[in-house]
Amino acid sequence: MNTQKHNTKGEGMNARRTGLIIRQKEPNNLETPFDQLDAFLTPTELFYIRSHFPAPKLDLAAYQLRIDGAVRNPFSLSYQELREMRSETRVATLECAGNSRVFLVPQVEGAQWELGAVSNAEWTGVPLAALLERAGMEDDACEIVLEGADRGTPKEKPVPPGMISYARSLPRDKAIQREVLIAYQMNGHELPLDHGYPVRAIVPGHYGMASVKWLTGIHAVREPFQGYWQTSDYGYWDYQDGKPVRRALGEMKLKAEIARPTVYETLEPGQVYTVSGAAWAGETEVTEIAVSTDGGKTWAEAEFLDPVQRHTWRRWKFDWLTPKKPGQYTLLARAKDAKGAVQPDKHDENYGSYVIDHPLPIEVFVARREPGAVGGT
Ligand code: MTE
Repeated sequence: MNTQKHNTKGEGMNARRTGLIIRQKEPNNLETPFDQLDAFLTPTELFYIRSHFPAPKLDLAAYQLRIDGAVRNPFSLSYQELREMRSETRVATLECAGNSRVFLVPQVEGAQWELGAVSNAEWTGVPLAALLERAGMEDDACEIVLEGADRGTPKEKPVPPGMISYARSLPRDKAIQREVLIAYQMNGHELPLDHGYPVRAIVPGHYGMASVKWLTGIHAVREPFQGYWQTSDYGYWDYQDGKPVRRALGEMKLKAEIARPTVYETLEPGQVYTVSGAAWAGETEVTEIAVSTDGGKTWAEAEFLDPVQRHTWRRWKFDWLTPKKPGQYTLLARAKDAKGAVQPDKHDENYGSYVIDHPLPIEVFVARREPGAVGGT
């Protein structure tokens, strides 16, 4: 294995460049090949796709975004009118709450995401706060429901009585933060169909399910919204006075992932191999990465490649002098945040098949390559 091949700029990686990895066909559910993490921004064509229903094809000329509910002046905007409003551009990492589900033992239902239901892009749009100000949100509005144009009947129980649209609510306090965008561009170009063309929400710091695609409705509500993707799906068990209560998932948890090496990759003994990956958090900052090459017995500090930037991941690397002794080794990466919190050792079962935020084991082999073996460099 030539470690140069795995340097941070990614030179030499082009030969290996592939596309998205399929998890489900129609609706499209595709993950990014996380081992190709070669830049701070995920190229648009490699950004993961997570859709519950087939992508609706919205006609730009007829597009209207409706803002109503607990507001004094409900109104609708055309695409052109939205484009004419003052825009902001910011980078945000989106992670699907089910990312890394394949690591759960025993196996659970749902798309078997590996490491790549997470990506990082630059988004341009109008702050949701500006639209809510214009609409004159009432003081007693507690949440903002974002509704997409896609419709269907979800499969997970309890199944609603008929077709429903994809809708999620945001707490008022988050909805009025400037970072929440009603976006129409991704990495400097209009949104691709699978990513919500022509308009989507981007909720930095929250799991991906909050960033509603194909957005057509923004409704301020006076009572907490109890929709399907708030309760049946994307919910978890919290405790109130010792009793379990159902709550909606929101803020992303602190997490680090190893991009390279990949599971069961064979590395040369006695050579420096650059282990690399990325780490992110919700509303806090990732400040430290520890890497273990012995299944968690000992840890060493990794080096960051990206500075702190709120709501975006930070890539990191760690030079590992591989053992001379051939064998199987388990690599782990664990992040720490600005408040001193670290990732938990185990998955919390209250989250069901979501929030897989414990350090994920990457088993590799250290062995001399057979001369002439396929893939040798
Ligand atoms: N918005 C709509 N309208 N329909 C959806 O199925 N999926 C959500 C969210 N927004 C979804 C949606 C989920 S679960 C995730 S993780 C993100 O979109 C994924 O965004 P992406 O496909 O652009 O990566």
